Amino acid sequence: MPKIPLIDVKAQYSPLADELKARFAEVLESGQFILGPNVKAFESEAAAKLGVAYSIGCGNGTDAISLVLSALEIGPGDEVICPAFTFYATAEPIAQLGATPVFADIERETMNIDPVDVARKITPRTKAIMPVHLFGRPAKTDELTKHGLPVIEDAAQAFGGAGVAQKGIAATFSFFPTKNLFCLGDGGLVATSDEALAERVRMLRFHGSRDKKLFEYVGYNSRLDEVQAAMLRVFLNHVDRWNSLRREGAARYAELGLGDLVELPADEPGHVYHLFCVRSPERDKFRDALAAAGIGHACHYVVPLHLQPSMAHLGYKQGDLPETELAADENLCLPLWGGISREQQERVIATLRDAAATPGP
Ligand SMILES: Cc1ncc(COP(=O)(O)O)c(C=O)c1O
Repeated sequence: MPKIPLIDVKAQYSPLADELKARFAEVLESGQFILGPNVKAFESEAAAKLGVAYSIGCGNGTDAISLVLSALEIGPGDEVICPAFTFYATAEPIAQLGATPVFADIERETMNIDPVDVARKITPRTKAIMPVHLFGRPAKTDELTKHGLPVIEDAAQAFGGAGVAQKGIAATFSFFPTKNLFCLGDGGLVATSDEALAERVRMLRFHGSRDKKLFEYVGYNSRLDEVQAAMLRVFLNHVDRWNSLRREGAARYAELGLGDLVELPADEPGHVYHLFCVRSPERDKFRDALAAAGIGHACHYVVPLHLQPSMAHLGYKQGDLPETELAADENLCLPLWGGISREQQERVIATLRDAAATPGP
């Protein structure tokens, strides 16, 4: 039986190989590799797609977060509220800048940050709130902006999700190759409609300078390169279609009866299914069956951020974020990408069905 990957990135970009090669040849011919015309064009095309006034390319999604936090002058003594059920890169830049990540619990239903717990955790030191649009599902940003604090959307997993980048002061994206919009290496983006913030981020990505002569801030060297920007301009034309195909794949899992075996992610129109993440108290049994069948899968954030060794000084303990910890134990991501076939999905379900029928140890 052929293996089924968790995400088949190559299946998405292979049909575009000729166009990608032509764009690559143009960059090669131009001899310009850093902050050239493709970055500029991609920034305006991405801003238009996201419905924001400005977007600024950078090295990766982690740097995008660092750039926004730095531009907001967040540092020692400041607190930023974020979820603990997310990739480490959500909180790392907060700590890197000497500020304190304050972890809020997630909602059972959406696995996104819980606005009620966020409200409980706001203190006079809170300088920003950072929801994550986890697995492609837009977080409840509207309920977070009402506190009057800057809301930074970690949108690494949610390019094209409904309302994403339009409600917070800024949204940050990763173009890591498995993301909904991806490049062929590392890349990132900050999207914002705040002119002053955009200007500051643009300077910070180049050592805090406008002109290479005066250095007004201590910044970063974090740039999207021309080759990646040229690839991204091609992929940007396909991201809506890929997102629709992901949504179709998610609906097909439900039609095929997956909901009889595991808890399905609650659907909503703006969800772009970066990952198709189900839940089950018997997660480990299903995980082992998928592994034995050569089917890609992932259990995410099994050690949530509040329990990571690097965050031990913050004093969290097991039991502090019950929904986060339960999701860490129960989540299981199943294969999904823009173009997964019905047969592949049937095989995933058949494997889980066999596992469900097998008595546990
Ligand atoms: C939620 C989240 N935030 C931030 C990042 C960081 O992105 P990058 O890997 O491009 O630095 C990722 C990517 O893995 C992510 O999933």
